[in-house]
Amino acid sequence: MAYRLVLVRHGESTWNQENRFTGWTDVPLAGKGVEEAKEGGQLLREQNFQFDTVHTSVLKRAIQTMNIVCSEIDQEYLPINKHWRLNERHYGGLQGLNKSETAALHGEEQVLIWRRSYDIPPPSLEVTDQRHPSHEAKYKSLPVDILPKTECLKDCIERVLPYWYDHIAPDILSGKRVLIVAHGNSLRGLVKHLDKMTEDAILKLNIPTGIPLVYELDANLQPTRHYYLADDETVRKRIEAVANQGKAKPA
Ligand code: 3PG
Repeated sequence: MAYRLVLVRHGESTWNQENRFTGWTDVPLAGKGVEEAKEGGQLLREQNFQFDTVHTSVLKRAIQTMNIVCSEIDQEYLPINKHWRLNERHYGGLQGLNKSETAALHGEEQVLIWRRSYDIPPPSLEVTDQRHPSHEAKYKSLPVDILPKTECLKDCIERVLPYWYDHIAPDILSGKRVLIVAHGNSLRGLVKHLDKMTEDAILKLNIPTGIPLVYELDANLQPTRHYYLADDETVRKRIEAVANQGKAKPA
């Protein structure tokens, strides 16, 4: 192993708890999400993980998770890089809707396609829609045509990868120990890229909240091994909780 990279998905947010499509909606962590972030940090601390830099999105559920993790590992001094390219996948016209109600209305199969297909995006927003990112102060410096009206995973990967190549990969190659705190789908995108997963395989992949995912990489940044810092049963239950969000009646 030449390098080690750690990925953490933010803990449960208030809208995860309400089972609403969130995307770029900037909602905070729920109480349970704060606990998940603390547990994630503790798992890293127990194994004495040290970092040199952190990359996260501009959404507060990831930023809050990152702050909690850095506090738990007693590395609050780390330089923090926040970038919109690490944001969650934009859920377009689904943002704000309840996932189970949407499944009851359109069918679980359609919701699975919107949530997990590689290249079929959810319905697009008009730029005039208040949910379009151009209405938010933090995106005002970006040209409107780069801001998403909706995104499938393919679109999400296409905007995450420039950040990977321009910022994260150079950090790793320069010897920095990197922590990334991001979102279910921006991390799925990165994992698909790292593991060269097929479009079918990525459909079935769910990333659990708050459990550090460790990637060991060779000198060319090719993964040699990856593993979660938690027992299989804990990982399985959290993955199942994410997968069940799209059921018409969640378990
Ligand atoms: C959201 O944006 O709703 C969640 O963060 C991720 O949702 P998903 O698991 O339904 O893609």
